[in-house]
Amino acid sequence: MIRVVIANQRGGVGKTTCAVNYAWYLAGKGNRTLLIDTDSQGSISVMLNLKPRNFFNQFLIHKFHLDECTVKVTDKLDVLCGNKDTIQAESAMAGAVVRELALKIMMEPYESRYDAVVIDVAPSINLLQSCAMVYARNVVIPVDMDLLSLNGANAAYDMMRLLNDLIKANIRAIGLMPCQVDQRLSVTALVQQSLQKMSEMFDVPILPAIRTDQTVNKAFRARKALLDFDPNSKAAQDYLAAFAQITAMIEASDGQTQTANV
Ligand SMILES: Nc1ncnc2c1ncn2[C@@H]1O[C@H](COP(=O)(O)OP(=O)(O)OP(=O)(O)O)[C@@H](O)[C@H]1O
Ligand SMILES: [Mg+2]
Repeated sequence: MIRVVIANQRGGVGKTTCAVNYAWYLAGKGNRTLLIDTDSQGSISVMLNLKPRNFFNQFLIHKFHLDECTVKVTDKLDVLCGNKDTIQAESAMAGAVVRELALKIMMEPYESRYDAVVIDVAPSINLLQSCAMVYARNVVIPVDMDLLSLNGANAAYDMMRLLNDLIKANIRAIGLMPCQVDQRLSVTALVQQSLQKMSEMFDVPILPAIRTDQTVNKAFRARKALLDFDPNSKAAQDYLAAFAQITAMIEASDGQTQTANV
């Protein structure tokens, strides 16, 4: 099973675009896929023009059945949307024992229904991000061509390491994904150099880059996933290459884990 969280503490780097399109990609390959929005901005419902009856908060805190909270987008793709009530979920969980396990525990009864779960998180260090990392154990870190985005990537990586040290969560970074890449801008080369250093220091690969492409914004205005709106666009083609690699890496590591558990 593929479980992955798309994280970077910096805002606007392309987390939600990546999460929505990776979920779309996996569903398109025939995987029963669940896309979860743990961000109180509720961007996924806006991006895909969804009108859920219930949201992430009702699922996690009020223990509603998952079916009462998800929206079926395609035959293979369900979405659990976030909204501003997610802020209440954070505070409701604050004092709970083993709170980092909350999402893992809530998802357990539904595991057999899905082949893939993709999780989008907020651009901040918060408890829900930890819950998402502990549950998914695979983290993709999008980095846009802005130096602060590298700080955000660092913060996501530190959080992973902390959870691994403190609760043996066994989380790993699948890769750093350069996003909104425009080679004409001088800052791009600078960020790419720093990204290379970060990749070597953390021993985390750099994934195929996603070029800046206005089709991403057009797809957003049309309230569609980019891969649905224009699969031949530059950014869509880049995403396809990156997603193939992410999937292969997660499947390879799952195989190793299974062998190790035999
Ligand atoms: N490859 C691209 N080319 C052009 N624009 C892009 C590209 N990728 C993302 N964008 C645009 O960048 C903006 C931020 O993207 P997105 O919402 O995916 O980032 P985010 O990291 O989820 O943001 P937040 O931290 O606020 O949740 C959006 O307007 C999106 O359309
Ligand atoms: Mg987002």
